[in-house]
Amino acid sequence: MSSVRFFQTISVAAILLALTATVHSCPPSDRAALLAFKAALHEPQLGKLGIFTSWTGADCCNKWYGVSCDKESRRVADINLRGESEDPIFQKKHHRTGYMTGYISPAICHLNRLSSFTVADWKGISGEIPRCISSLPFLRIIDLIGNRLTGTIPTDIGKLQRLTVLNIADNAISGNIPRSLTNLRSLMHLDIRNNQISGPIPNDFGRLPMLSRALLSGNKLSGPIPESISRIYRLADLDLSRNQVSGPIPESLGKMAVLSTLNLDMNKISGPIPISLFNSGISDLNLSRNGLEGTIPDVFGVRSYFTVLDLSYNHLKGPIPKSMGSASYIGHLDLSYNHLCGKIPVGDPFDHLEASSFVYNDCLCGKPLKPCGVN
Ligand SMILES: *[C@@H]1O[C@H](CO)[C@@H](O)[C@H](O)[C@H]1NC(C)=O
Repeated sequence: MSSVRFFQTISVAAILLALTATVHSCPPSDRAALLAFKAALHEPQLGKLGIFTSWTGADCCNKWYGVSCDKESRRVADINLRGESEDPIFQKKHHRTGYMTGYISPAICHLNRLSSFTVADWKGISGEIPRCISSLPFLRIIDLIGNRLTGTIPTDIGKLQRLTVLNIADNAISGNIPRSLTNLRSLMHLDIRNNQISGPIPNDFGRLPMLSRALLSGNKLSGPIPESISRIYRLADLDLSRNQVSGPIPESLGKMAVLSTLNLDMNKISGPIPISLFNSGISDLNLSRNGLEGTIPDVFGVRSYFTVLDLSYNHLKGPIPKSMGSASYIGHLDLSYNHLCGKIPVGDPFDHLEASSFVYNDCLCGKPLKPCGVN
C-alpha cells in the first residue's frame, strides 16, 4: 500500500469517526442553551461540588446531571433538577436538600424539543417564569415548585397543547389566572398552591377535559366557584381552600363522577350546603371557616362515606341530622363553632367522637357533651 493510499484511508476513517461523534452528541445550539441556563443559576452551598460540575464536554446528552436527550434526534428532551431528592449527590455533600439562587434563563426556550422541564425545590431561585416558555411546542411537564419565582403565569400558556402537568406551587407568583389557561386540553394536574394569584377562577374552567387534580389553595382568588367545573369528568381532587372565593357551592359539584376530595375551607362561601354533597363520591369534605347558613341536610345514607367531614366555623343552625347515623362511615367529624342545637344522636359514628367535634354551638347536648336538661 502506497503511503498516499494509507493517508487517504486514515483520513476517511478520521472523518467517519468525527461524523459519528457529532451524530451522537447534542447539537451545539442545545449545548449553548444549557450553558446559558446554567450561567444564570448559582449553588452557593455546594460551589465546585454542585450539580453543574458534570455539565462539561461537548456532548450534553452524555452524563450531564439532570439532562436527557431523545435517542434518535439527540435533542435535549428533559431537564430534571430537584433540590430535594434521594440522589447520592445530595447525601455525599451532607446537605439533604439543595439550595440555588439566580433565575431561569430564557435561553431554555431555544431547546425547542424540550418535553419536560423540572427545576423544583431550590428555594432561592427568583425572577419570572420566562414568557417564551409557551412557545415550546413539545412541552408536557412544567414543574417549578418550591422556589421564589415572582411575576405572572405567562399570558399565552394555553398554547401548550401537550402540557399535562403545570406545577408552580410554593412560589410568589401574582396576577390573574390567564384566560388562555382553559385552552390546555391535555392538562391533567394543575398545582398553583401557595402563591399570590388573584382575580376570578375563569368561568370556563370546565373546558379542561383531562383535568384530574386542581389545586388552587392559598392564593387570593375571589369571585364565585364556576358551575362549569362540574363538567370536568375526570376531576378527582378540587382544592380551593384559603382564598377569598364567595357565593354559593354549586349543587352540581355533588354529582360529579369521580370527585373524592373537595376542600373549600377558609373562603367567603355563603348560602346553604347543597344536599348533593352528602350523597356523592366525596369522601374528604372540608367546608370549615366560611359563611354557610341553614341546616345540615338530613340526607345521609349508605352512599355517604367520609374520612373527613369538617363543617366547623360556619353559621349552621338546627339539629344534627339523625340520618348521619346511617352513613357508611364518618371518620373525622367537626361541627364545632356553629349555632347547632339539640340532642347529639347516639350510635355510630357519634360514639367514637370526642367533645371537640361539637363544642361552641348554641345548645347541643348529650354524649360526649353534658347530658341534656342540665345546665
Ligand atoms: C379544614 O380546614 C381548616 C381551615 O383551613 C383546617 O384548620 C382544618 O384542619 C381542616 N380540617 C381537616 C380535618 O383537615
